[in-house]
Amino acid sequence: MNLVRAPRAVRSTTLRGAAYRRSPGGFTSCLPLRLPAHRASSATLAGVYPFLVAPPPTTGVLVGTDALTGGPFCFDPWAMYGAGELTNPNMVLAGVIGQGKSALAKSLAVRSIAVGRRVYVPGDPKGEWAPVADAVGGVVVRLGPGLATRLNPLDTGHTEPAIAHGQRLRLLAALAQTTLRRDLDAVEHGALDAALTEAGHRPVPTIPDVVDALTAPDRAAARADGASVAERVTDGRDLAHGLRRLIRGDLAGLFDGPSTQALDANAPMVVLDLSRLGSNDDALALAMTCASGWLEGTLAAGGGRRWVIYDEAWRLLRSVPLIRRMQAQWKLSRAYGIANLLVLHRLSDLGAVGGAGSEARSLAEGLLADCSTRVIYRQEADQVAATGTALGLTRPEQDLLPALPRGTGLWKMPGRTHIAHHRLHPSELAVFDTDAAMRDTPARPTEVA
Ligand SMILES: Nc1ncnc2c1ncn2[C@@H]1O[C@H](COP(=O)(O)OP(=O)(O)OP(=O)(O)O)[C@@H](O)[C@H]1O
Ligand SMILES: [Mg+2]
Repeated sequence: MNLVRAPRAVRSTTLRGAAYRRSPGGFTSCLPLRLPAHRASSATLAGVYPFLVAPPPTTGVLVGTDALTGGPFCFDPWAMYGAGELTNPNMVLAGVIGQGKSALAKSLAVRSIAVGRRVYVPGDPKGEWAPVADAVGGVVVRLGPGLATRLNPLDTGHTEPAIAHGQRLRLLAALAQTTLRRDLDAVEHGALDAALTEAGHRPVPTIPDVVDALTAPDRAAARADGASVAERVTDGRDLAHGLRRLIRGDLAGLFDGPSTQALDANAPMVVLDLSRLGSNDDALALAMTCASGWLEGTLAAGGGRRWVIYDEAWRLLRSVPLIRRMQAQWKLSRAYGIANLLVLHRLSDLGAVGGAGSEARSLAEGLLADCSTRVIYRQEADQVAATGTALGLTRPEQDLLPALPRGTGLWKMPGRTHIAHHRLHPSELAVFDTDAAMRDTPARPTEVA
């Protein structure tokens, strides 16, 4: 191979009022100092890169190249957290459609698997993660009407009865809140607890067992709680109707019986493919709430460092009970060694979950606050100001956002900002491609370079 050496560039710059010439050993003064020292704010001086900008991170999996240095840009939330550079391992990734958000999430996932991490995608509404899981020897659980797979969300895998009961109760309450579109009151919580206790006499209860116990409560148990059977039935009436949606409604056959597939906690990647649920956001939220029950059980059992990737998270943020569960998992991320990745179109998706001051809004804002790493891909001009305010972006950083090309993002981490190009390997592109339907011919590797 012929290597052609480019002529050494000679560049001049001005530092503290003197002209300097770049030489192999550094900068050599070529003019006497005449100008007074210049003072400016750090925001203004940030323009004199590379003197004030931190070098790109070089530990972790290779993401691509740093746009300013041209050097490698790597990322590992666990390593950076360990080094004190991040306050938590969670990450939010926002950008308009088709900019390569999912491609970045998939690269982080498969490249992390190579260094021993595991990946869980608790809900894939577009069905685009299945080929990725297949490529890395992972497991795909396909749930949807007409499919044979069934998961029992009450099969927590926990052997300690009190812990299993608590997990099941929280899960059932979240499911009922989602279908009823309201919080449960005190008597409903009591009725649900009693029904679950009764159903819990079976080795692994199912949702139909709980609904049966709600509609025909045990007389002795009701009396022990100071209630009659008729009162118990009345207390649990709405709950029974709400939970029946998982038995007879649009989710029938998905979560209403014993699990048909054991979820392998040691698989490198587990993907819950929910693409068959279509555009039914309620069904998506219910399915993900059920899946989060399984995740809790798996995480509690250990299993090492794991990415939990919420692709298309803007669709999930419509369900307050699900956001509550996500927030609980966020809080536990450091204890369990998991890094959550939330993929959105824009940060205002987080503000759109509820009115100012509402619980939903503060929960969603809490999720953002608990993401130490924020990666912003291209934003529409009308989103730039809100994004800038939410993330504390400087004016030049804001100006960049509408012009970022596909695969290039602004990475904000505590005390450091980088612009990084995500580089896809041709074999990754073949698996990650979501544009196939838009093209006549498949992508060629040269398009990636
Ligand atoms: N860094 C990159 N280099 C080259 N091609 C890329 C890059 N990132 C993404 N692509 C390609 O761009 C297309 C869209 O990417 P992707 O599906 O990841 O976008 P997205 O932002 O997740 O879109 P959506 O918001 O619709 O989910 C894919 O075909 C993908 O292969
Ligand atoms: Mg995507």
